[in-house]
Amino acid sequence: MDLKTIKTIDDLELRGQRVLIRVDINVPIRDGVVTDDTRIRAIVPTVRDVLAAGGKPILAAHLGRPKGQVVEDLSLSALAAPLQEALTSDVVFAGAIGSDEARAAVEEQADGDTLLLENVRFHAGEEANDPEFAKALAAIADIYINDAFSAAHRAHASTEGVAHLLPSAAGRQMQAELAALGAALEDPTRPVAAVVGGAKVSTKIDVLTHLVAKVDKLIVGGGMANTFLLANGHPIGKSLAEADLVETAREIMTAAEASGCRILLPIDATCALEFAEGASHRVAALDDIGSDEMVLDVGPRSVAELTTELATCRTLVWNGPLGAFEIDPFGAGTFSLARAVADLTKSGELTSAAGGGDTVAALNAAGVTDDFSYISTAGGAFLEWLEGRELPGIAALGRH
Ligand code: 3PG
Repeated sequence: MDLKTIKTIDDLELRGQRVLIRVDINVPIRDGVVTDDTRIRAIVPTVRDVLAAGGKPILAAHLGRPKGQVVEDLSLSALAAPLQEALTSDVVFAGAIGSDEARAAVEEQADGDTLLLENVRFHAGEEANDPEFAKALAAIADIYINDAFSAAHRAHASTEGVAHLLPSAAGRQMQAELAALGAALEDPTRPVAAVVGGAKVSTKIDVLTHLVAKVDKLIVGGGMANTFLLANGHPIGKSLAEADLVETAREIMTAAEASGCRILLPIDATCALEFAEGASHRVAALDDIGSDEMVLDVGPRSVAELTTELATCRTLVWNGPLGAFEIDPFGAGTFSLARAVADLTKSGELTSAAGGGDTVAALNAAGVTDDFSYISTAGGAFLEWLEGRELPGIAALGRH
């Protein structure tokens, strides 16, 4: 897909037009308080640009997974105030699509106001991509903008169906994601490396298979590295691994060799007898992992080697932690490598992009999110993009 052909806000005449903007403000809320407003801040440029162009923004979004039911705790009414604060302009909660409240709000929308619709997933037609629900969405607007890259892997009525019914374009956040991710994998400055971590090979087979054909160095860490170590004949004690995927790991290594991609596995490990905070632990060479031990992080020699390998790379994409970073001290490997990436990025030697829920949490814990070139707001969508899949929410957008 040539992302450069997708229309943007700049290609549309917005003056006096009602603009339905699909945003992703699926944010964590605890006791009514938004605990991470990254996604709210991310939509500000689009809404402001629509307002500045004389358009009338109507925001459609989901919160959680209510599965077609009205779930009070998942009402988007809770986000009107934080949105208004982020936008520094008025936000009016407009109620559910199809309701009298929404009809009146759309009719009475004042210039400069932004409307916020109720959670689209309260309607069964949303996730079913029901044409009738898509029509109901299209009926309240003249133009559709999708600014929700992080929901673009869903072929839902508000992310896909409605895009076929109105002139459509990508919003600023969507544009930023596509530009950054395109620069990381579609058209990267080489050598390009990928870090793929996380617990299981099974959840990332497609990611690994896609990446070995794209990158020059593939760093595999986390629990999934154990399956690769097993495939290479290393005993890994009681470590988390998927014995049934050893053959898959071998196939991935063979494919990597064929495409000239070097897979970099840990060369030492931080092990413990139990997976618990403060558990006594030690660094072990690969041939020295005890039968009662489990690998919970990459060791310092691995970090040093990977840092040297990354120093010769120009582009990096990162998804997944290298160890059980949530539990001290098993975040050390992830944090050290993240800091090395941050330093290389700051000195202008590396362009670094990262994404995925766990990944961003790990980079936050390492205190380096601001030092990466780009941090995606996407979780599942980032993973599907790493798998090389076409995302329906992007495929449906207007083209030049
Ligand atoms: C996310 O949080 O990754 C997006 O908002 C998509 O949410 P979903 O996985 O519930 O579709």
